Amino acid sequence: MASLQQIPQDFYPIAPSSRMSKVGLNAMKTLLAKELKNTNILVNNYSPGWMKTDMGGEDAPYTTEEGAETAVYLATPPDGGSQGRFFAEMRKFGGAVVLPW
Ligand SMILES: NC(=O)c1ccc[n+]([C@@H]2O[C@H](COP(=O)([O-])OP(=O)(O)OC[C@H]3O[C@@H](n4cnc5c(N)ncnc54)[C@H](OP(=O)(O)O)[C@@H]3O)[C@@H](O)[C@H]2O)c1
Repeated sequence: MASLQQIPQDFYPIAPSSRMSKVGLNAMKTLLAKELKNTNILVNNYSPGWMKTDMGGEDAPYTTEEGAETAVYLATPPDGGSQGRFFAEMRKFGGAVVLPW
């Protein structure tokens, strides 16, 4: 839902304000990564997936711990690791998957 490229072709008719704010976050991540190129500060973001929170509700398939797995992965990269990318939730895809944004 945070991918500008996906908006014309996916089936979510919902949450336009949320989607636009997440598209903006993707732009901010990209600008920061560009500014920090050639440093050892890595900037990436990710979609946590649908999680059981106040916002996500009880029907969500993932716990917050599962939603946070990708955050932990992205917070512990090696030097020279991924920079300026948008990742899917690892729980759903079984590993790190870069998404178009
Ligand atoms: N849950 C999902 O399925 C899901 C899926 C994709 C993306 N996300 C994204 O993940 C993020 C967290 O979502 P969530 O599901 O954890 O939502 P949540 O359960 O509604 O929690 C939102 C948190 O944001 C805090 N907050 C709200 N307005 C704030 C403000 N003006 N200043 C400071 N803190 C503020 C709230 O603080 P208080 O507790 O003090 O009110 C609360 O801790 C959001 O950006 C959401 O869009 C969630």
